[in-house]
Amino acid sequence: MTNSNKKLKYKTSDNVDISKPWDKDNQAWWDWYVSLADNDGKQSEIINADPLPNIVIPSNDEVVSELAEPYYLTNYQIDFFKKNGFIKLKRVFSPGAVLKLRAELINLLKEEFKVDPDKGAQDRFLSLEVIWPDNALLRAYVLSPRLGQISADLLTVPAVRLYHDNVLAKQTGCGRTPWHFDDHHFPLDTNDVVTAWIPAQPIPLEMGPLSFAYPLDVHKLVNAVTFEKTGTGYDRKVSEVFLKNNVSVNETPFELGEVNAKLISAKELKEDEVEKIKKELFSKFGSKINLDYKVDKDLISGLIIQVESIMIDNSMKNKLKQIKSQMIEV
Ligand SMILES: [Fe+2]
Repeated sequence: MTNSNKKLKYKTSDNVDISKPWDKDNQAWWDWYVSLADNDGKQSEIINADPLPNIVIPSNDEVVSELAEPYYLTNYQIDFFKKNGFIKLKRVFSPGAVLKLRAELINLLKEEFKVDPDKGAQDRFLSLEVIWPDNALLRAYVLSPRLGQISADLLTVPAVRLYHDNVLAKQTGCGRTPWHFDDHHFPLDTNDVVTAWIPAQPIPLEMGPLSFAYPLDVHKLVNAVTFEKTGTGYDRKVSEVFLKNNVSVNETPFELGEVNAKLISAKELKEDEVEKIKKELFSKFGSKINLDYKVDKDLISGLIIQVESIMIDNSMKNKLKQIKSQMIEV
């Protein structure tokens, strides 16, 4: 990238000159980049995340066949992406496929950095890149027909090609990433670019999920802010412009895909009984459960749980129905 602003009358100082090629490695770039974030001097308290759900992890072949299936976007989603420059899509990967990816990434990070990203506060933003050529499992995700098709559909183009993959893991205690416009980071002469961020675990608000300023046009508000290679000035100034202009920022948690479930019981369940069922469903499906609970005395006894297309019916009404149909068969 070069500083092509011909109106600049003064000589570019080294602190803002981005024309020089990066002469260190990929990890050094991320260590530098995260140092440009304005964390307000705040060090927030370190808290423990909820444990990961104990769900069945699919085999490599199951992941490949899951990711070969299309994920259909609605016109509304495509329009939303074009207008806002981002979209958060739920359940692109099953919870099992997400946690399988996580386990593989943790292994790769441990191997490269000789640290366990799950343990201790070490403040760094660890990165690996272009992993797919040497890792068959990562290739299944990175080159998956599902991701390729979602990217092509969002851009309304017939096909896409991969620029690179990136594994990014913030260690506990690592602060913000500075505000930026992704387009500035690609040496590509096109705006038809999608960065597909795949959270490899649930990301609650306290963990600092991705934030998106929107709509797409807001980048024009900060075009005039001069980038600085040292210090947090650029990040701080962008935040100030956003605040002054009341720019909307989407900062919401990432779950392992929300699942809608229905629970119908013959007699009223206590609150803690409903919570227990919710917890059990969470550990089985690995997803936040939106539970719609009703009482239906016609069931006589027992309950019905329906999670998407899966129905568990142990109500007396159903048992009587089964006995009746067996008697008819006899
Ligand atoms: Fe980015």
